[in-house]
Amino acid sequence: MPAKILDGKAIAQSIIEELKQEVINLKKQGVVPGLAVILVGENPASKVYVKNKAKACENLGIYSETLLLPESTSQNELLKLIDKLNQDNKIHGILVQLPLPNHLNTQNIMEHILPEKDVDGFHPVNLGKLVMGEALFPPCTPQGIMEILKRTSIKIQGAEAVIVGRSNIVGKPVALMLLQENATVCMCHSKTKNLEEVTRRADILVVAIGRAEMIKASMVKKGAIVIDVGINRLNDKLAGDVDFKEVSKVASEITPVPGGVGPLTIAMLMKNTLKSAKLRNSTVLKI
Ligand code: GUN
Repeated sequence: MPAKILDGKAIAQSIIEELKQEVINLKKQGVVPGLAVILVGENPASKVYVKNKAKACENLGIYSETLLLPESTSQNELLKLIDKLNQDNKIHGILVQLPLPNHLNTQNIMEHILPEKDVDGFHPVNLGKLVMGEALFPPCTPQGIMEILKRTSIKIQGAEAVIVGRSNIVGKPVALMLLQENATVCMCHSKTKNLEEVTRRADILVVAIGRAEMIKASMVKKGAIVIDVGINRLNDKLAGDVDFKEVSKVASEITPVPGGVGPLTIAMLMKNTLKSAKLRNSTVLKI
């Protein structure tokens, strides 16, 4: 039997509907959640992502600013803009779209965003909270993966979860979140020996390596749940990191590309922005 498709678009849509009501409730208290998205340069994929983030805000009634800066922007100019947004009361979330041009120091820029406005969850304070199992803003893509698993009642506790890819944005945080939910977690990367032997152990296989269709059916255990985070261009079409056609024949459930994890990333960004606005509102009320 072919794998059941985990419809990320539908899951994201139902989350957005839940959030819409929360935005209405917050607005009744005089609070309009606000998100600032900064894009430096002309990366075509990043331009699409940034546009989609603004669209999602508009759809939800969240105030948003998209700040498009030239490739030549200096570290200091970017830091100054972040300073301004850190002080701006209309803004509850600040997101700097990655990757940044090579001349900019990404780590330094992430550390400049106030942790309470870091809706990406990339500030060291927020990553530290994540490590301790007390995440304030869980990074959006890993949080989206967890939503897919939870909302489709996939049992995480005790499952063998194998993650292929050790990026700071996806691989490392999703490992921590799966661990928090009591999975047995194993991380693979480019230096892993006998990759196939490890991936074949997975009850839950999360793939985020950025290589089109690298995971083949022979690397997947029968009945596994496969979460494909990759978005690659292959023969003028979008393709994941998983060979969807072949792997669907062995997996029990699988996310498609597009329409799998991608829509959840934006929904989780909206959720984190709303959380930030609610937290500020409750702090202001307490004072
Ligand atoms: N580029 C790809 N994914 C992300 C993300 O989740 N946040 C940011 N800021 N940039 C990204």
